[in-house]
Amino acid sequence: MARSSGPIGVAIVGTRFGNLHAEAVSELPERARLVAICSRREEQARYSAQQFGAELATTSFEQVLRHPGVEAVHLCVPHDLHAPMAIAAADAGKHILTEKPIAMTVEDADRMIEAADRVGVVLMVSHNQRFLQHHQRAKDLVASGTIGEVFLCRGVFQGYSPIKGWRHKVAQVGGGVLIDSGIHRIDLLRWIVGEVASVQGESGRFIHQEMEGEDTAVILLRFVTGAIGQVICSWGVKTPIRDESLVLCGTKGTIWAENSTLSLRMAVEEAPGQMGPIQDESLLAVSYPDSVKLAIAHFLECIEEHKQPVVTAVDAREAVRIAQAAYRAIQTGERVSLKGER
Ligand SMILES: NC(=O)c1ccc[n+]([C@@H]2O[C@H](COP(=O)([O-])OP(=O)(O)OC[C@H]3O[C@@H](n4cnc5c(N)ncnc54)[C@H](OP(=O)(O)O)[C@@H]3O)[C@@H](O)[C@H]2O)c1
Repeated sequence: MARSSGPIGVAIVGTRFGNLHAEAVSELPERARLVAICSRREEQARYSAQQFGAELATTSFEQVLRHPGVEAVHLCVPHDLHAPMAIAAADAGKHILTEKPIAMTVEDADRMIEAADRVGVVLMVSHNQRFLQHHQRAKDLVASGTIGEVFLCRGVFQGYSPIKGWRHKVAQVGGGVLIDSGIHRIDLLRWIVGEVASVQGESGRFIHQEMEGEDTAVILLRFVTGAIGQVICSWGVKTPIRDESLVLCGTKGTIWAENSTLSLRMAVEEAPGQMGPIQDESLLAVSYPDSVKLAIAHFLECIEEHKQPVVTAVDAREAVRIAQAAYRAIQTGERVSLKGER
């Protein structure tokens, strides 16, 4: 969609994780102008608007959509609102950056993609972890064959999180920890290792009894390449350090990528059966909040330059398709195939 020059008018919807989006936009005055902050509670909207210098504080999403100065909306709201808000935003001609997961179902994701394509607006999903340097380095090392062919991989998200409000409700989350936090690991493994062919899984609610969904899940992935992978995620693990890591095992070596240290370690075979030393790369230049800010800067660039985001809405839809298949596998106790129509 064509636009006149000057900073892009942005509205942020949601004022919790949304405040990080607002901060990021306020730090890019050459490229973006914070026009509105929208929250369910008026005092929250006003507080954030004042903190980040937005012109308008409102509780009305409709007012945001009617505002001629708003060119892009960031949806930082419960998951059940991603699809209806994104579709309404596309219909109003606004570009959309939605938080992950793109939607609670593949059908909703398809409706969002169709609405954005029809109007010609950018639809990007903030899979911000793709912007962390150690993840990008892991992707590059695997793509260049440095560790050979990946045959085994693991993505872990486990720590203790207090779970409140809408995160208790399956109808607002689309499940539990798997589709909320585990979706990052699913997306990263698919990005680095390739398409997923089938999935199996187990889940449970062990610690957060107020949740309707699972607080813990383990899923087993078979990739199209033949590789085997595992995603382990839990909000109930009582540990002072959250484990958010990826392990990628190839025919020639292994990569460990860790969010706690923002580092990547690798060891490769120097001669048959003889492992070389562990090479330690500290990639602290991009912090976790920075990765969200980089994702936002990329979104603005896509609007400015009419580009397709590096993480497409179709990628985000695929992560939800895998999560949904995992929920079906957990429910039936059977392996669910993802082959066929993508
Ligand atoms: N990428 C990441 O690493 C990451 C991390 C955390 C969260 N997230 C994502 O960010 C999104 C929000 O999560 P959160 O942790 O910020 O949730 P949260 O702490 O519960 O906050 C939800 C926000 O949505 C607002 N809201 C709810 N209903 C609304 C409505 N009808 N209209 C306008 N605003 C509404 C709430 O407003 P009030 O405060 O005024 O009630 C609140 O500001 C989710 O998609 C989540 O998965 C991503």
